[in-house]
Amino acid sequence: MPREKSSAYVCSSCGHDEPKWMGRCPSCGEWNTFKEIKGVSALAASLAVPPPARQLLADTDPTPPERFPTGIAELDRVLGGGLSPGTAILLGGEPGIGKSTLMLQVAASLPGTGLYVSGEESPGQLKTRADRLKLKQDSLEILCETDLDTLIAILNQKVPAYLVVDSIQTLVSAEAGSIPGTPNQLKIVGHRLTSWAKGHGVPLFLIAHVTKEGIIAGPKVIEHLADTVLYFDHSSTDLRILRASKNRLGSVDEAGLFQMDAGGLKPIVNPAGFFLEHRKTGPPVGSAVAAVYEGSRILLVEIQALTVSAKGTGGRVYSDRIEAARISRIAAVLERHAGLRLSDQDIYINVAGGLRICDTGAELAAALALVSARSEKALPANLAVFGEISLAGEIRAVPHMRRRAKTAVDSGLKNWISAESGDDKEKFPGMGYRTSLIKEAAAWVLSRS
Ligand code: TYD
Ligand code: MG
Repeated sequence: MPREKSSAYVCSSCGHDEPKWMGRCPSCGEWNTFKEIKGVSALAASLAVPPPARQLLADTDPTPPERFPTGIAELDRVLGGGLSPGTAILLGGEPGIGKSTLMLQVAASLPGTGLYVSGEESPGQLKTRADRLKLKQDSLEILCETDLDTLIAILNQKVPAYLVVDSIQTLVSAEAGSIPGTPNQLKIVGHRLTSWAKGHGVPLFLIAHVTKEGIIAGPKVIEHLADTVLYFDHSSTDLRILRASKNRLGSVDEAGLFQMDAGGLKPIVNPAGFFLEHRKTGPPVGSAVAAVYEGSRILLVEIQALTVSAKGTGGRVYSDRIEAARISRIAAVLERHAGLRLSDQDIYINVAGGLRICDTGAELAAALALVSARSEKALPANLAVFGEISLAGEIRAVPHMRRRAKTAVDSGLKNWISAESGDDKEKFPGMGYRTSLIKEAAAWVLSRS
């Protein structure tokens, strides 16, 4: 049976809501300010936003809302061109990965006077961090608060130009009990804050920890409320990769690349060659440089392979930066079509720098790294590799082949090997070898080792 909608009492001074009438507002202390709002839940009433009017789709203005940059170019890249009024962005990641650092940097560079709400750090800690990062501080207000009702009341008193909440797991809504961070708390806090931000046209950043216990009590439960969901990729080095897993403002293919140092998160200059190890001699055995397409950029990354006699009856694949199933498939193709015995081997694959690779254009490089590892012969020096491997042992063309070759050559890799096919018929820069068979590619690299 549907539940009957109850009345709510909302303070006309600060917007605080209560299920029962009260003489004095517990939030702002004003007397006789509670007004009854009939037929709506306390939650909806507290939002105090006029309901949107129905309109014909044909009469709807398709102009997208105005976008403005955050001042952090790598973040704008991931967002798809900056922020819009009322956009809700969820930023997730493991504790210590750099969420607060990034958000403080963003908050300090956004126009207008914003509010940074911290339930994790004291004003002194925030100030120390801002000083260390040499951030502009005269247009950023801070508030250390964990009670949601108090926060909403403060927001209603003076609407900030933008709002950062660090973290959503520290806020408590009395409606959901007294323990912060439970799924119910996250849902209610997330719903009220995103609704408040949309109603007031205020861009909102919600920071959320990804908890080790999993996803249930973590940011996953509020992803549907956000327009854009960003996650910091786990990285064992000082590299920080920011990706969108959902983006109503743009694509989810872009990655923001940062380096964490004493001065905070810095954009990576020359991302194309950032992951390359510059060696005086050629590459070691088992290493191949892939030219991968990441977002709208080409990056050169070293794929490392190691094969050792299997400990069990059949070989296993250990690969967490490239999907292990894909490596198994490539190994099977090499065994069947290039005469390389791998089924009795344990295969270890790593990507230098900790980048996670999804681009199919990296498959040929993974294959040649395996060829090098198994034959114990290093690949030729200054070689970039790009192409996809088919089950029939063919090398298939991948998008942006010319750009991949050019980026490699510009970064000092004068040779490249790739697919014969591809609609880009123009001559590529550098010294290239193009073939359509994995067998021939393996023979070509080994003859030059
Ligand atoms: P932080 O932003 O507090 O992480 P999160 O909010 O995701 O938990 O980052 C904490 C780590 O970053 C900490 O280990 C110290 C390091 N760090 C730097 O290396 N340089 C800096 O300038 C800052 C502010 C932090
Ligand atoms: Mg933090």
